[in-house]
Amino acid sequence: MTIRPNISTTKAVTPPAIREWLSTVRPMLIDGKWVAAQSGKTFEVFDPATGDTIAHVAEGDKADVDLAVKAARRAFEGPWSRMTPSERGRIIHRIGDLILHNADELAAIEALDNGKPKAVAKAADVTLSADMFHYMSGWASKIEGKTIPISALTAPGAEFVSMTRMEPIGVVGQIIPWNFPLLMAAWKLAPALTTGCTVVLKVAEETPLSALRLGELILEAGVPAGVVNIVPGFGATAGAALAEHPGVDKVAFTGSTEVGRLIVQAASRDLKKVSLELGGKSPNIVLGDADPELAIAGATSAIFFNQGQCCNAGSRLFVQRNLFDKVVDGVAARADKIRLGPGLNEDTEMGPLVSRVQYDRVTGYLASGRQEGARAICGGEGLAGSGYFVAPTVLVETKPEMKVVREEIFGPVLVASPFNEVDDALIAEANNTIYGLAAGVWSGDMARALRVANRLRAGTVWINCYHVFDAALPFGGYKQSGWGREMGQAVLSNYLETKAITSRIG
Ligand code: NAI
Ligand code: MG
Repeated sequence: MTIRPNISTTKAVTPPAIREWLSTVRPMLIDGKWVAAQSGKTFEVFDPATGDTIAHVAEGDKADVDLAVKAARRAFEGPWSRMTPSERGRIIHRIGDLILHNADELAAIEALDNGKPKAVAKAADVTLSADMFHYMSGWASKIEGKTIPISALTAPGAEFVSMTRMEPIGVVGQIIPWNFPLLMAAWKLAPALTTGCTVVLKVAEETPLSALRLGELILEAGVPAGVVNIVPGFGATAGAALAEHPGVDKVAFTGSTEVGRLIVQAASRDLKKVSLELGGKSPNIVLGDADPELAIAGATSAIFFNQGQCCNAGSRLFVQRNLFDKVVDGVAARADKIRLGPGLNEDTEMGPLVSRVQYDRVTGYLASGRQEGARAICGGEGLAGSGYFVAPTVLVETKPEMKVVREEIFGPVLVASPFNEVDDALIAEANNTIYGLAAGVWSGDMARALRVANRLRAGTVWINCYHVFDAALPFGGYKQSGWGREMGQAVLSNYLETKAITSRIG
């Protein structure tokens, strides 16, 4: 098949201030100072729209992680623990303000480094990152224990007062991926700070830049030295060193299910607490009574937003037979019109995939789909030329056992299949995955949609909408999609220990 790429021809221009910022090696943040790696090593960061090198970044490894963990421990026992909740909350709120104040620059960095359209980065990644700090800042002064009446059966007649105190878990190691570099940093850092923990953050080797800029803003907001340490580096070195470091009390990870398992193994020696946000293969179900235009627009953005590089992407589309052709052709028609290009171009609607590795992975899945007999009704291939562009693709004539249906592709590839009735067989097929992160239901009958939603084994279900994230809403997975929840009140428990204090008063 030949693809006629709908590609932006404007030449992308990096804003001069960012070019200047990237003209020297970007150091790492340890103990409130910007420092080189102990080894002196650096690594290259690439523009995924061209494959060109855009930056050199200090390459953290075991020795740097060790210094960062020790700094985090000192800060945990020192100034951070002595700060009042209201002071802590004000500082965290200021981080949110500073993100908004620097929104345009952060969006441009994200567009350059990750490849996503700058307008999307500004409206989604940057806005939601700021809101995460603003939302979480309020919790700093609202983390309450309880008073609990006890029966004390072994001490008849004695009188006690019992209460619980919620205390920060301590030094937290956080490891994040490249699909939402700034937002993943915000999702991780904000609740850790609000609960009074200190952090060593290992950013993804593909996209370290926006979190390093965030590190500057965090210092500007008044976060004391050592409370947030940011160590860029590779997974097998810096990431593994952080996950197994004996000075880390808890590890929070977002990324592949495969690495999630390695994190659990590394943490098991010291029985560190672990939370995980992993992969997905989310069903998006269009019932026969849905508004077809709404479903078409929704199914399109469910899979193609962020070049399909979303753990919650609506990657398995199920459409009731009466609407199947209309909805699937509608999604394909929209997909064909999506304009690809560098994230920094104003007319770009979809950027490149993040890296050569991800391009090879996704085009490998497209080849496997072809081999196993799936048919592409749009897209189906990577684009020739520089940059890691893959055409938005819809595959039909799929079978449940195909790799493209079973495995997370993490690219702009949708598999679509029809169903006859809203019955047990449909629910079983929708739940027929090792994952359980998200799902979508489209219907004109809310009660019916809710009945379907209740039966889906997924941490998030969207009805007549998709990709609606909010700092106040818990997000996370059933089954192999993870442990624990991010955001909302629910995330606080990832970072807190409960202490029961009992006092005899008579
Ligand atoms: P990955 O899981 O290897 O990378 C995520 C983070 O983990 C990065 O910071 C990486 O440096 C770190 N890491 C890698 N190996 C590690 C180790 N042994 N110990 C500690 N940290 C380690 O994901 P990758 O290779 O970039 O992508 C592979 C697939 O994973 C994607 O195709 C996608 O299916 C899935 N993925 C899911 C994400 C999500 O949001 N849940 C995000 C990124 C990838
Ligand atoms: Mg990997």
